[in-house]
Amino acid sequence: MNALLTVNNLSVEYHSRGAIVPAVKNLTFSIAKGHTLGLVGKSGCGKSTAGLAIMGLLPENESRVKEGSLFFQGRNLLNQDPEAWRLTRGREIAMIFQDPFSSLNPVFRIEDQIKEALDPKSGSGHSARAKELLDHVQLKDSQRILNSYPHQLSGGQRQRVMIAMAIAQNPALLIADEPTTALDVTVQADIMALLRNLQREYHMSVLFITHNLGLVKGFADDLAVMFKGSIVEQGPTSQILKNPQHPYTQGLLNCIPKLAPSTGPIPLLADEYMEA
Ligand SMILES: Nc1ncnc2c1ncn2[C@@H]1O[C@H](COP(=O)(O)OP(=O)(O)O)[C@@H](O)[C@H]1O
Ligand SMILES: [Mg+2]
Repeated sequence: MNALLTVNNLSVEYHSRGAIVPAVKNLTFSIAKGHTLGLVGKSGCGKSTAGLAIMGLLPENESRVKEGSLFFQGRNLLNQDPEAWRLTRGREIAMIFQDPFSSLNPVFRIEDQIKEALDPKSGSGHSARAKELLDHVQLKDSQRILNSYPHQLSGGQRQRVMIAMAIAQNPALLIADEPTTALDVTVQADIMALLRNLQREYHMSVLFITHNLGLVKGFADDLAVMFKGSIVEQGPTSQILKNPQHPYTQGLLNCIPKLAPSTGPIPLLADEYMEA
């Protein structure tokens, strides 16, 4: 496999009021170029901690990478200095989060925040590029949105803006941490379809973090199921869904509503179904 990212034996702990919390334990997985890995497990099992470690965004004074390596494009990210991390984020690896509101700055217009996410070296033409990006994430009325402040947008629109900022520099890896959990179900489906299309178009690899196995069924090539900080099962999605080995995975599968769409591709919703 032509791996873009190889996480090897990664262990992360938090230090909280004298106590040590082993949040991630001996995590090992790879993501191939252009592939999607679904990192699945219930709340508190360590999914976000893993994502933040790969992004170099673990809280500095409260956490420690105890062991392991993160090989990305052939180099170990854990050996990078802060300046190299700053260059990696956005250009090579981007991340979107559950709550797009808290990731946007309330006092700046969307246009300024998107320009901020663009490569400063590319200089002029940022306004045109910002509009192009919003068109790309299928936001109607992009000019009005560029002039808006975050509170003037719906949750789905804000998440589209965050996705636009994440893809602005064409990263090789997108980490999506519960990107639809705070959204209504219909908007959720639109965002999933959008991510899928962008992934194909940009040939991105995606680490899709979710507690909802049903959501990644038709999206992830491979799954890694986490339980209490460790991966208990991983492999091709179809294989795990057909024949889950671990009781915890079987439990997760039983949680998928029977009416959920099956493993086929997520259809692109017609324009009239998109929120205004
Ligand atoms: N900043 C922190 N300080 C102390 N413990 C933390 C911190 N962040 C997360 N944790 C703990 O680490 C574990 C894993 O959390 P997290 O990675 O957020 O899980 P998930 O994303 O799967 O819900 C949990 O027990 C959580 O309480
Ligand atoms: Mg989380």
